[in-house]
Amino acid sequence: MKSIIITGGAGFIGSHVVRLFVNKYPEYRIINVDKLTYAGNLANLKDIEDKPNYRFVKADICDFDTMYALMQEEHVTGIIHLAAESHVDRSIKDPFTFARTNVMGTLSLLQAAKLYWEAQPEKYEGKRFYHISTDEVYGALEMTHPEGITPPFSTQASSEHHEAYGKDFFVETTKYNPHSPYSASKASSDHFVRAFHDTYGMPTIVTNCSNNYGPYQFPEKLIPLFINNIRHRKPLPVYGKGENVRDWLYVEDHARAIDLIYHQGTIAETYNIGGFNEWKNIDIIKVVINTVDRLLGREEGEDMNLITYVTDRAGHDMRYAIDSRKLQAELGWEPSLQFEEGIEKTVRWYLDNQEWMDNITSGEYEKYYDDMYKNR
Ligand code: NAD
Ligand code: TYD
Repeated sequence: MKSIIITGGAGFIGSHVVRLFVNKYPEYRIINVDKLTYAGNLANLKDIEDKPNYRFVKADICDFDTMYALMQEEHVTGIIHLAAESHVDRSIKDPFTFARTNVMGTLSLLQAAKLYWEAQPEKYEGKRFYHISTDEVYGALEMTHPEGITPPFSTQASSEHHEAYGKDFFVETTKYNPHSPYSASKASSDHFVRAFHDTYGMPTIVTNCSNNYGPYQFPEKLIPLFINNIRHRKPLPVYGKGENVRDWLYVEDHARAIDLIYHQGTIAETYNIGGFNEWKNIDIIKVVINTVDRLLGREEGEDMNLITYVTDRAGHDMRYAIDSRKLQAELGWEPSLQFEEGIEKTVRWYLDNQEWMDNITSGEYEKYYDDMYKNR
């Protein structure tokens, strides 16, 4: 029987990964380790919390003794590591927390797994340490987008796409060049994971994924924040000129990739995950406004006047774009959703789950957000 720790399972992506594994593999034991920081929310997992193959443990990954004891108690054979501080704006204000969780927390897990697995008769045989990382470690790409070109809606990079956004993509061998405290901390954790393979022979895998969107994302990130603000007719703070480009992937497609790579990926390899789906922020914001307006029965575009240009994010990376052809060629993964379908599903989910949103945005978080917005 496989016994797998998934860290950060109460967060956005982690909750989708936990749900997929618990439902798809009733013969596995899935242990969700999460500290329940502001971003962790057990409401994300209500539908699977009573499943017999699922256990939740509230713990800090930086607590080495607890991690080691849990691995012993549960005879852990695999770790899928998602727990992290994940918001760039917070990392600019409080970099220490990012170094603590993302760097020291990853190291604490690695060391606990090393000591536990090396003490087993079969050692690393059948074991796996899978670290989930981001494309932001690669830095920022150049962009050349003449005015007036509409975003590509296809999932493959076309010549129109190259003309619009630039020819470069992040590949697995792109040199790390992180700019924000968040991406610097993730880069450092990626290096530790690879060092544990190269030094001790630990069976590790690292994946670097582009921006995710979908249900259960904490509403400080662009898409859920803007959906909620449009609903309440609050200003939409667009950083700088709104020209920065992100490559968006539906979260369930990321979870499917994680499942595939956990089971079939090659040890010590890196895989990039992305959907060839680049959008300038301002274009995606317009799509979100139109979709929310339509689904709320308002006139489409009625809320465009909420767009408010604010001071740019310090060190704001211009463009991220992932080349995920290695994953497609080696393991046959492809994004399943076209973007229009994904964004429609996402907006609908947030509008249908207002209680989930209101539970987060009322009280303490509302004050934090309003202060943050005032200071921009
Ligand atoms: P999130 O902020 O929604 O969730 C993070 C989870 O980790 C929360 O449940 C939180 O409680 C938990 N956590 C934080 N510190 C912890 C600690 N010290 N010990 C235990 N648990 C702790 O993040 P997300 O967007 O779901 O991202 C998950 C992972 O995927 C991160 O490693 C992130 O770097 C990576 N990633 C995210 C994206 C994206 O677009 N969101 C893209 C690529 C990679
Ligand atoms: P975000 O969702 O924070 O993800 P990341 O910084 O990891 O890419 O932001 C996505 C893009 O949207 C990024 O270019 C910053 C921009 N942005 C805004 O313009 N306004 C906002 O209020 C937020 C949260 C983000």
